[in-house]
Amino acid sequence: MNRRNRSLVIGAEGSIGGTLLTRLTREGVDVQGTCRAKFPPAGCLHLELTDEPRLWLLPDSIGTAYLCAGISPQEACRQDPYGTRLVNVLRTVELAKRLAANGTFVVFLSSSLVFDGSTAYCGPLCSVSPKTEYGRQKAEAEREILSLPRAAVVRLAKVLAPHWPLGRKWQEALRAGQAIHPFSDMVMAPVSIDFAVDVLAKIGCARRAGIYQVSADRDVAYVEAAARLAGRLGASPSQLQPTTAASAGILPESTPCHTTLDAGRLRAEFGLEPPGVWEAIDCAFGFTP
Ligand SMILES: NC(=O)c1ccc[n+]([C@@H]2O[C@H](COP(=O)([O-])OP(=O)(O)OC[C@H]3O[C@@H](n4cnc5c(N)ncnc54)[C@H](OP(=O)(O)O)[C@@H]3O)[C@@H](O)[C@H]2O)c1
Repeated sequence: MNRRNRSLVIGAEGSIGGTLLTRLTREGVDVQGTCRAKFPPAGCLHLELTDEPRLWLLPDSIGTAYLCAGISPQEACRQDPYGTRLVNVLRTVELAKRLAANGTFVVFLSSSLVFDGSTAYCGPLCSVSPKTEYGRQKAEAEREILSLPRAAVVRLAKVLAPHWPLGRKWQEALRAGQAIHPFSDMVMAPVSIDFAVDVLAKIGCARRAGIYQVSADRDVAYVEAAARLAGRLGASPSQLQPTTAASAGILPESTPCHTTLDAGRLRAEFGLEPPGVWEAIDCAFGFTP
């Protein structure tokens, strides 16, 4: 077997990493995952980014490694900038460097929050302008990883999986005749997790370096998504009681006006169009097309 065709998914028990591992396995790719469990399940290796790097046991001759591990909640990054930077920047970059030194092509998952959200459809070459600690960490890791000879950075807007917890909470409340309070001042341009892993698999297979960006074709406010759900469920209009993220204590930097990205490179290289915004949301609500 040509071991250079082997792939490695770092963070294979996470939402995106787990879906990617399943997808690559189903496609017949020779792939292994890593997880934090001391006794990992079959097909997984133990890897804890807070461990001393000399303790990391990495397989040789990996063709593509997908860096899907990290601490994503913005509040966690805000409250513990030192601890989260260790994982999201220092150790992630060290891991990327070690893999690249072995000839591995590295795919790093970044975020639309490397931008401040004042402009829609930022291009991949626009200057980064993060306003949150999470966004700053992603921007710093990107800069280091892009200096490696063989690496791609994939900036993702929101990625929605089926059984999206907030969507489920809204559904349960609406079905029980209760009110929901979606934010009118927070937007998203989500893609489905299937679309996101499709993009990652294509980039990892093509091994083309540089920045890729992934978002839906436009932003919608959370209140619009909730209204669509309420309409589909036949809920009473009085159950939809919008509120604002600002009044819920969410800091302005966490509610950018725009989260869309210029995804032109996906169209040019892989023929992938930015999906319509309702595709991911309907799927996350469990509505079939
Ligand atoms: N989901 C989105 O909407 C979205 C959007 C933009 C960018 N991204 C980025 O995409 C990546 C994957 O996101 P996700 O939604 O799949 O996140 P997730 O579900 O939270 O998965 C993150 C994974 O990282 C692992 N991890 C956390 N700390 C670690 C450590 N110290 N050592 C080793 N592994 C560690 C977690 O392990 P445990 O499960 O054991 O905690 C988990 O498996 C992240 O970098 C995220 O910032 C996600």
